[in-house]
Amino acid sequence: MQPVEIKKDVYWVGAVDWNIRDFHGYSTPKGTTYNAYLVMDEKITLFDTVKKPFKNDLIAHIEKITDPAKIDYLVVNHVEMDHSGALPDIIDRLRPEKVFCSAMGKKALLDHYHRKDWPYEVVETGQTLRLGKKTVQFLEIRMLHWPDSMVSYVPEDRLLISSDGFGQHWATSERFDDEVDLPELLAHAAKYYANILLLFSPLVQKLLATIQEAGLQIDMIAGDHGLIWRSHPAKIIEAYDLWSRQQGRDKAVILYDTMWQSTETMARAIAEGLDEEGVNFKMCNLKLNHRSDVMTEVLDAKALILGSATLNNGMLPAMADMLCYLKGLRPANKIGAAFGSYGWSGEAVKLMTAALEEIKVRVVDPGLRVRFAPTPEDIEKCMELGRKIGKAVKERQ
Ligand code: FEO
Repeated sequence: MQPVEIKKDVYWVGAVDWNIRDFHGYSTPKGTTYNAYLVMDEKITLFDTVKKPFKNDLIAHIEKITDPAKIDYLVVNHVEMDHSGALPDIIDRLRPEKVFCSAMGKKALLDHYHRKDWPYEVVETGQTLRLGKKTVQFLEIRMLHWPDSMVSYVPEDRLLISSDGFGQHWATSERFDDEVDLPELLAHAAKYYANILLLFSPLVQKLLATIQEAGLQIDMIAGDHGLIWRSHPAKIIEAYDLWSRQQGRDKAVILYDTMWQSTETMARAIAEGLDEEGVNFKMCNLKLNHRSDVMTEVLDAKALILGSATLNNGMLPAMADMLCYLKGLRPANKIGAAFGSYGWSGEAVKLMTAALEEIKVRVVDPGLRVRFAPTPEDIEKCMELGRKIGKAVKERQ
């Protein structure tokens, strides 16, 4: 691929990973990109690198602009290995004058690569670096989503090099938001938010406030994954504001796994009850829906309804997997309940209810259990549960 000039003398020099399908548990059916940016100024500066196997792509892209040996500075906005994996080889080859990173970034680099000889230059929020005609302002964004994370702002270009923020896992030959279908792009961005940043939503709110208070004018957001926000930066900032508030809309998600279709029959009856109340819903059979797609559905839902049959005194494995993931991402402001069929012990509903309480979901029903196959009376109870949750969804502001 060719490097792309995104602003005058600022180039995308990253790599496109068409084949990755799993990103530490997040399904990436359309691949991703590892974006890196080269600023050609008196001090030639490279922002971030790429995942190790893509090192040659990065070098080839830089070589189309300049001799890599001429690079003076490296900026490491984030140490996770999809952005720093190529760093040891790049530093050995480029011998940069300085490697800029946050204090936590230096610690993380030492922990990953054990190279005390690198020319670290620790920077912190508010610090400015002059490259020549352009300057870089650093802003630490601790825990968004690693302790080392920071972003770099180039005021002369109104350009925010945003690290993992505002990204999407989507491999494309296009580089800009206005070259692809915007609703599809926002759907990828929503999945990325739900699976990477949801847990840190309060910090996202703080960051958006900091950007506003600092009066940063942003014409372009160039993140480390996916498309660059050239025409719609306000749109993605607005979306991040909405997602990080976690207010949800009048929608419920029914996540379930079933053994002999009794729990599925219950799920359908609960959905009927929601429908009668005029509340939108999504049915997610956990055997058929990847956990990361389920999280995207959870992002804008007000209600989380969990169903599992009981197996060996516990819940079905797909539900256990989903709950492990949900507990990690900790969606907020939800209401919910659990249900499921059982034969003789029936622990699954209790376990799922406890999991909902652990992630601070407001449980609106003690849980509905049905022995083996639901009777018409059981079906009515399921519909009533759906109506009850539907009413609670509409009442919750
Ligand atoms: Fe794209 Fe946190 O690495």
